[in-house]
Amino acid sequence: MTDPSRLFTPVMLGALDLPNRVLMAPLTRNRAHSDGTPWKTAQTYYAQRASAGLIISEATQVTPRGKGYLDTPGIHSDDHVAAWRKITDAVHARGGRIFLQLWHVGRISHVSLLPEGETPQAPSAIRADQKTFTADGFTDCSEPHEMTHEEIREAVEAFRQGAERARDAGFDGVEIHSANGYLLDQFLQDKTNRRDDQYGGPVENRLRFVQEVIDAVATVWPRERIGIRLSPLGQANDIDDSDRETLFTAVYSMISEARLAYLHVVEEFYGTDTTDAEIDLLKRLRAGYEGVYISNGGFTADRAVETLASGHCDAVAFGRPFIANPDLPERFRVGADLNPQDPDTFYGGDETGYIDYPFLPDERTI
Ligand code: PHB
Repeated sequence: MTDPSRLFTPVMLGALDLPNRVLMAPLTRNRAHSDGTPWKTAQTYYAQRASAGLIISEATQVTPRGKGYLDTPGIHSDDHVAAWRKITDAVHARGGRIFLQLWHVGRISHVSLLPEGETPQAPSAIRADQKTFTADGFTDCSEPHEMTHEEIREAVEAFRQGAERARDAGFDGVEIHSANGYLLDQFLQDKTNRRDDQYGGPVENRLRFVQEVIDAVATVWPRERIGIRLSPLGQANDIDDSDRETLFTAVYSMISEARLAYLHVVEEFYGTDTTDAEIDLLKRLRAGYEGVYISNGGFTADRAVETLASGHCDAVAFGRPFIANPDLPERFRVGADLNPQDPDTFYGGDETGYIDYPFLPDERTI
């Protein structure tokens, strides 16, 4: 095994001084109450993982209109704030740091998950060739409607309010979810954005919605406490663009100019393989970005060390390994084996596969 010490040098992530570069990626676990209030058990789940350099919470909808899966959490009511406050307190009590990921799924939804009588919101009325998870199991996404200007303003305002509630709930910052074919990504890419107004057409127009969301969130948080997540390879949720490189060169440049805490990139979406040509594209895009950069997707400790050493990234976010190993940084530090993962309990279910993965024997458990 490669010397892991590079994972354990401190790094400044905007305003935060992280003790290590092993971050916890946002992970949908579908274990919130049906009104979006996180379970009490989430206090234990997140506190168990407080040794991460930074925890990025599971994707959390900023409005009931932004929900796309059964039992995902929200940040749009006082009950949500109170429940998240207990979670952030638990993480802080264990010496950790946690950002909330602000989410709107756009067209990746189903009418049964949305406010009565509403269809999913999207830049254009194009149905996703994708299934989502509802009370009836995996179900085709519903036909969305094209958002009006009023709805676009409301969605931007929902992100601002979500950011405000995240602050009230004691988070250390927020991550704007602009990846994986959800609403912000749908505005960026031309497979899903066929608008002919100021939010569609040329690249600069397609960037407008994301820019407005960043600016709205930045009225609440200093920019050094705002991150953003992108997935320029378009590997999830039926998203695509006719000229990915031109589009994401412009997006990365916008993010550099926004002076955010970090850019977090999904370099490989689970269930897909990133090709050599795609890796070259990620590198070219990276070269055009100035700021702290987080890599994510299918990393091992060894590959994280190599990628840090190459200068490509400043930190690595781990997803599935963090589900199965609450003490992942310590395991990397001592070269311990990792617990086997149980994919059957990744999404939904009970405490099994959520808070019962073992720590190394000498670690204090909670
Ligand atoms: C998922 O529920 O599968 C999911 C949620 C958010 C993501 C990616 C995947 O960004």
